[in-house]
Amino acid sequence: MSCTVIVGGFFGDEGKGKIVAHVAYHDHPTIISRGGVGPNAGHTVIVGEKEYGVRMVPSGFVYPDARLFIGTGVLVDPRVFLQEVNLLGVGERTFVDYRCTIIEEEHIRRDRSSEHLAKTIGSTGSGCGPANADRVLRVARQAKEVPELEPFLIDAPWELNGAIDRGENILLEGTQGFGISLYYGTYPFVTSKDTSASQIAADNGVGPTNIDDVIVVFKAYPTRVGEGPFSTEMSRDESDRLGIKEFGTVTHRQRRIGEWDGRMARYSAMINGCTQAAITGIDRVDHECFGITEYGRLTKKAKDFLAMAEQDIGAPVTLISTGPDVSQIIDLRDEL
Ligand code: IMP
Ligand code: MG
Repeated sequence: MSCTVIVGGFFGDEGKGKIVAHVAYHDHPTIISRGGVGPNAGHTVIVGEKEYGVRMVPSGFVYPDARLFIGTGVLVDPRVFLQEVNLLGVGERTFVDYRCTIIEEEHIRRDRSSEHLAKTIGSTGSGCGPANADRVLRVARQAKEVPELEPFLIDAPWELNGAIDRGENILLEGTQGFGISLYYGTYPFVTSKDTSASQIAADNGVGPTNIDDVIVVFKAYPTRVGEGPFSTEMSRDESDRLGIKEFGTVTHRQRRIGEWDGRMARYSAMINGCTQAAITGIDRVDHECFGITEYGRLTKKAKDFLAMAEQDIGAPVTLISTGPDVSQIIDLRDEL
């Protein structure tokens, strides 16, 4: 029984949503709670024929037996939240901490009309930066002041810590990625908050001593959306040659593609306190690995890549994603 944090190790969009979904089906958590910035995040989860892009509801929603929380530190855009809850039909089991900061239309306007945020930084235009700024200035509204959110309000840390005390499994899902952390990322080309595992725990009011595992998700070929340094970035020609083309879930901007960055992986694993790593997109390292679910059937090329990645990260790679569907994964956690 444990409390597990799942975070992104590179610049976001590592495939955390899919890893969260898999771990949920496997570990049967009673609560899946989101940390991270807010609706600037987009999680794509593919189950069978259906593809979901969520921005507010935890990406673990595909697992039907957990309550879904939005942690205290997360920004809530009530319009996005209510639309998603209705669309996904999860209104009965989704809850918002009553202290969450509210994103107003005005925050979105400020985000999009700011030359600095919209152009220089390349923000997602979802109002997150200005809303976090207003929280710091202590003028932002909280979820408890929004009548439409009334039916969803909860004291998330109270519920989470109670479940931990009862020995239930809990999943805390992060959003964004290490490289765009306000503190540890490529400042000023970052998001408006820290994105490391400690922040995700704090967002949910779970103390560090109650975290049992930190799974850091790395992409075999990292990507970055928006502006800012990307030391292993490859040219569009190179990524086209590899057959890699990706678009953002929120902004639909084309993502920049890079080579594996061992130094960044190491540093990210250190700050996140990584106990286990997940590697996504191994089918891009070797197309023959697409959809494989047993480690033994991976090719030598893929195994060599994983051995190198594990060396860089300094923690065991226990989850290997071999395709976009939730079922396309190798899970070695039981072999630890
Ligand atoms: P903001 O978070 O909208 O202020 O955007 C700041 C920077 O973080 C921009 O480069 C965004 O593209 C990036 N960003 C924010 N959220 C995500 C995410 O969930 N995945 C990837 N990049 C993100
Ligand atoms: Mg995303």
